[in-house]
Amino acid sequence: MYRKTYNVAVVGANGAVGEEILTVLAEIDFPLDKLIPLASSKSVGKEVEYNGEMFSIIELTHDVFSDYKVDIALFSAGGSVSAEFAPSAVKAGAVVIDNTSHFRMDKNTPLVVPEVNPQDIKKWRETGIIANPNCSTIQMVQTLKPLDEAYDLVRVDVATYQATSGAGKTAMEELVNQMQAFFAFTLSDAEHKVFNQQIALNVIPQIDLFTENAYTKEEMKMVNETVKIMHKDVHLSATCVRVPTLRGHAEALTLTFDSEVDANEAREILAKAPNLVIVDNPEEELYPMPATCVDKNETFVGRIRNDIYSGNILHLFIVADNLRVGAATNAVRIAQKWVELEENI
Ligand SMILES: NC(=O)c1ccc[n+]([C@@H]2O[C@H](COP(=O)([O-])OP(=O)(O)OC[C@H]3O[C@@H](n4cnc5c(N)ncnc54)[C@H](OP(=O)(O)O)[C@@H]3O)[C@@H](O)[C@H]2O)c1
Repeated sequence: MYRKTYNVAVVGANGAVGEEILTVLAEIDFPLDKLIPLASSKSVGKEVEYNGEMFSIIELTHDVFSDYKVDIALFSAGGSVSAEFAPSAVKAGAVVIDNTSHFRMDKNTPLVVPEVNPQDIKKWRETGIIANPNCSTIQMVQTLKPLDEAYDLVRVDVATYQATSGAGKTAMEELVNQMQAFFAFTLSDAEHKVFNQQIALNVIPQIDLFTENAYTKEEMKMVNETVKIMHKDVHLSATCVRVPTLRGHAEALTLTFDSEVDANEAREILAKAPNLVIVDNPEEELYPMPATCVDKNETFVGRIRNDIYSGNILHLFIVADNLRVGAATNAVRIAQKWVELEENI
């Protein structure tokens, strides 16, 4: 199908998202010529696996992108790393697909979820960068888009249940260490570094820092990114909560539409939408859960029901693997679309 193969750099290749990017690239048989796995100097000497082969980590430098003639650079090593090194990748002629929040709200940088606004990828030449949205935003807008087309979305109220892997590998380790401390009767002495509170046997209604309006940065990302991706002034209120799971973000959505919505019809619409899977059978106690979404590239939708009081309101519960749908899979799908665009497929 593709005419060319591409040199692909993965920045943060041995991180939680970076490792997942390598897996997804191999799974979908991406037209890859050379893989250039990059991380900091402290990871040089370590290896990562791609398609059954081991690759040595190369140190991220400003020159590495021109040295290896990189065509596509997938960044997931933190906002400050993207701020410093993405311009060097662009200067070397690569397209940057950035998983961090650094460029997301830049007005000249497209922010893309391929199922929702693939056409925005065409603007990539303005900065050379395409931004990947926040993990909680991606699975939500995938679900909102088909319902907005059918019923005209007015407002979203969302509460999230976000896994520890959303804060990286060390955050997952912190949960595991605290659970081990619990079984050793030492939980009260266990340290917390990544999270500002104990995460084991707890939920924390704060993700990222608070802003002046009493919402957190994570909550405001969902507000601002949704408007940018959907090209629509959707009103949105979010409460983002960290829960003691390892992988898979869940979200309880309350959606208000401009017209009447029927839960059965909405279920049929969602079932036909790309990369959504309906798991919704109360009689058999079937619904989406983090434990059943791990390693999957789809967003799972269930608990679809009408509001008790208003015909214009629908409630549902969605779950997706935050490291895949919320990061790696979306980034690789953007790369695929970019290749298709470049090759006029
Ligand atoms: N986890 C998620 O669900 C998720 C979803 C969407 C977006 N993101 C974003 O993706 C980024 C990475 O997240 P993660 O969860 O993968 O974190 P992580 O597990 O902590 O991994 C961080 C990666 O970045 C590399 N890195 C850190 N500082 C570096 C530097 N100065 N130079 C070169 N490489 C450096 C690390 O390599 P070393 O070990 O060598 O430092 C490691 O490979 C973050 O910006 C995060 O906000 C994460």
